Amino acid sequence: MKIRSPRGQWSSRLTFILAATGSAVGLGNIWKFPYMVGQNGGGAFVLVYLICIFLVGIPIMIAEVMLGRRARQNPINGMAILAEQEHHSPRWSLIGWSGTLAGFLIFSFYSVISGWVLYYIYLSWNPGFSGLTMEESQSLFRNMVADPYGLIGCHTLFAIMTFGVVARGIQAGLERAVKILMPGLLILLFLLLGYSMSYGSFGEALRFLFQPDWDHLSGQTALAAMGQAFFTLSLALGAMMVYGSYLPSNISIPRTCIIVALSDTAIALLSGLVIFPIVFAQGMAPASGPGLIFQTLPVAFGAMPGGQWFAFMFFILLVFAAWTSSISIVEPGVSWLVENHGWTRPRASVMVGFGGWLVGLGTVFSFNLWKEFTVLGKTLFECLDYLTSNLMLPLGGMAIAIFACWKLSVNSTRNELNLLGPFEFNLWRGVTGILAPTAVLLVCLNSLGVF
Ligand code: PHE
Repeated sequence: MKIRSPRGQWSSRLTFILAATGSAVGLGNIWKFPYMVGQNGGGAFVLVYLICIFLVGIPIMIAEVMLGRRARQNPINGMAILAEQEHHSPRWSLIGWSGTLAGFLIFSFYSVISGWVLYYIYLSWNPGFSGLTMEESQSLFRNMVADPYGLIGCHTLFAIMTFGVVARGIQAGLERAVKILMPGLLILLFLLLGYSMSYGSFGEALRFLFQPDWDHLSGQTALAAMGQAFFTLSLALGAMMVYGSYLPSNISIPRTCIIVALSDTAIALLSGLVIFPIVFAQGMAPASGPGLIFQTLPVAFGAMPGGQWFAFMFFILLVFAAWTSSISIVEPGVSWLVENHGWTRPRASVMVGFGGWLVGLGTVFSFNLWKEFTVLGKTLFECLDYLTSNLMLPLGGMAIAIFACWKLSVNSTRNELNLLGPFEFNLWRGVTGILAPTAVLLVCLNSLGVF
């Protein structure tokens, strides 16, 4: 196989942590987590989600970063090379293919929703949220999604932002962006938490989030919680593999991954603690769907002194968070075109960007013109989300876990995961090689109604 580019490396462990956190923390934490919790009945979903993060997500993240560092290639080539080195079927490169395809599909709707956030930056000034009631907030949201042209404009702007960065190569800007972004986002989330604790129904929200109601636990809920764990940790799509491929060889992968996963989980829970007190205080339905944060947060901002500035800053930071994620979502595909087909970065970016943008129009229309068009009761956006988060990512993750534990020679894995003692190493292997794939399989089969 002909391959170009021994690649650059992150300058330090911190840079990798920042870049990987930038990928993990995004709309998944602040937009998707709360509305999924709301739609799936609260505590039981949160519990399954947390179990999946720790028992499935973190071990698979370690496996994925490790594969990336060993192969030092984009995911498609990387899996092909590793399979060849270890004398296994070249079909293992399917992991790279399915991840890259999932990335393309996820980008298509991620960009549309990020466009909503861009729109809310504008709304925070015009008309502004001061004194906004819940009904007014809901109608702002409804009017936005009813207008395909506005949505297309914002989706286009976000797609250009993403591919503008990807076209230039991603390493340089990421570190700086994330260093400012994460502290800023945290400060504003804590500010909002202060509001929710004082003026929202905080006790009710705590019960909703952390008191599992087992009647709500079905196969579909468990699948949704597992899919969300994969989505929020940026797993099985090749993003972590690409970032791992820039990781210097003397850095401990497990410790680093745990830091990234814990930060990601903390931000998701924080976001839930901000949103639900407002939902309950305003008598809103928790299951309101993808508009949940867009309808609740403006009411909170509108009621606090200086709220206009806070709203403006919050949505800007959220765009940045979405931006650093979306860059990592498309990077596997772009780097494959560059490394395998000798395309220039700008050319590869324009092609992937245009394709993703075009598919994204389907998501735009699924909120207005094609709202009634459903397959199995799901709109086009819901189908794309279900297909990627609930099927492609978990199954891809299962394959990554199996490959890393059963197809790579144990010695080379041990060396690659340096700084793991024998006990920790065996623990990781047991969890990743047996527990995680079994869990994914059981949840998938159960949601299909097999048992
Ligand atoms: N983890 C990102 C988020 O939570 C989304 C993402 C998914 C990024 C898959 C990369 C890969 O918003």
